[in-house]
Amino acid sequence: MAVMSNRPDPVPDLDWAPDRAREIGEGMLDLWIELLERLRDLPVSRMERAPDVAAAMALEISPEGLTVAEMTERLRPLIFEHSMYAGHPGHLSYITGAGTIPGAAANLLAAGLNANVGGWQLSPGASEVESHLMRWLAARFGLPQGAGGLMTSGGAASNFTALKAARDAAAPDVRVEGLGDERLAIYASEEAHATIVEAADMLGLGERAVRAITTDDAYRMNVDHLESAILDDRESGVRPAAVVATAGTTATGAVDPLPGVADVCAREGIWLHVDAAYGGAAILAPELRPLLDGIGSADSISFDPHKWLSTPQSSAVLLVRDLDVLRRSFSSTDVGYVREDTELTGSGQNFGGLGPQWSRSFSALKVWASLAGHGTDAYARRIVHDVELARYLDALVREHPSLEPMAPVVLSIACFRYVPPDLPYGPEGDGYLDGLNERLMVEIRREGRTFPSNAVLDGRYALRACVTNFRTEADDMEVLVDSAVRLGDRLDGSLRPASLGSGRGRQ
Ligand SMILES: Cc1ncc(COP(=O)(O)O)c(C=O)c1O
Repeated sequence: MAVMSNRPDPVPDLDWAPDRAREIGEGMLDLWIELLERLRDLPVSRMERAPDVAAAMALEISPEGLTVAEMTERLRPLIFEHSMYAGHPGHLSYITGAGTIPGAAANLLAAGLNANVGGWQLSPGASEVESHLMRWLAARFGLPQGAGGLMTSGGAASNFTALKAARDAAAPDVRVEGLGDERLAIYASEEAHATIVEAADMLGLGERAVRAITTDDAYRMNVDHLESAILDDRESGVRPAAVVATAGTTATGAVDPLPGVADVCAREGIWLHVDAAYGGAAILAPELRPLLDGIGSADSISFDPHKWLSTPQSSAVLLVRDLDVLRRSFSSTDVGYVREDTELTGSGQNFGGLGPQWSRSFSALKVWASLAGHGTDAYARRIVHDVELARYLDALVREHPSLEPMAPVVLSIACFRYVPPDLPYGPEGDGYLDGLNERLMVEIRREGRTFPSNAVLDGRYALRACVTNFRTEADDMEVLVDSAVRLGDRLDGSLRPASLGSGRGRQ
């Protein structure tokens, strides 16, 4: 064949040879191993201010490209000076897992393989790993044959995807016609995660479509109120689209009464979505599993391995009782460039057709590697241990005269506040306590030994510790109590107004 004059020469610049892959891989690996070695001695957070971090993290990009040594040198401050460590034993905030070691290693491999798990042909093995993992998890939750699901970016995405499927099941025309005169409602407790309301907004239902169902004194959904809210809506021509029960609320870890809620949904013919983003992990621990009784009746379940299974960010799951509901809700009408005769090709499920994402990463691998590498027994032991640690913290709080428990401990969350024993009762004292505890949380974080977050319970500010970290132990609970009391005393000494000087006390 004659060589044409415009035949392009190879441009191999981006095609690093395997030995360069090893060099950069080892450079990054060294940083990771050093992090693991030093993790316990680093402050959980340095509580730096954003402009300082921004200035330090304006990392160079050069026309020539950096050497591996230059890259790792640039990354060193990110890893050791300007990060907050979810894997530090003192990390107790929000609901953020520590990050498993097998999961992190598998994540590198997944990126190296670079499977696009949006299309089966682009990821045959990876797609089947994901499908198998989904079926395995669905069976753990007690969902029947035919159940399945998909990996998502988080509980927010799972909740949105589930509620989209629920909306389309309740009112199939909405997909094409829009809502028109259709009025739909979603029911979730006052303690449900904000992403439920966010999903209603994104689905065009409007935030007000979410009916805030009251809770009992343990922050669980009030089933009587749920029933009456459904009745009221039906009477005024509003169609119930879904009930969202939470298995492990974000603030306190409360589990809604799943059997009662499931009964209402079955009787009324309403889609039951269970947001088990946090509490779902309890399914792996036989001692805790009874807390989730009834979850197998759900039409859909959100479950975030990146929370209590500590798999690396982000790795979340949406399970559905019947995979076809996702196919019906997310199938795109005749998109030419992905049209395929599967009889001809033998392809399996395109995950891009089960949710809003088209191109997707192989996030299932880090979940599989974490479960397979640790084994389910080790997970079961650690999950139970986390609950024991939260109960231990609660016991320390209860026996301390300057601390007050704020909510029952059900899973691995304990909420409490600092209350100086000589503070008088009354609204003024409560207002002072809110501000005091808010300052206290920041001061505790500033010390860098432990990193709690907060909850607002019945309008009152609470300190909150959530143990979803396999490095956390009893001494970390003691550190938190010590910091809360020591710093609380100091703050109270400098902040208390004269009008609250002393009273009959709270003891
Ligand atoms: C109960 C619950 N649902 C949903 C979410 C949102 O999950 P993500 O942050 O993974 O999107 C959270 C987050 O904490 C949660 O606690």
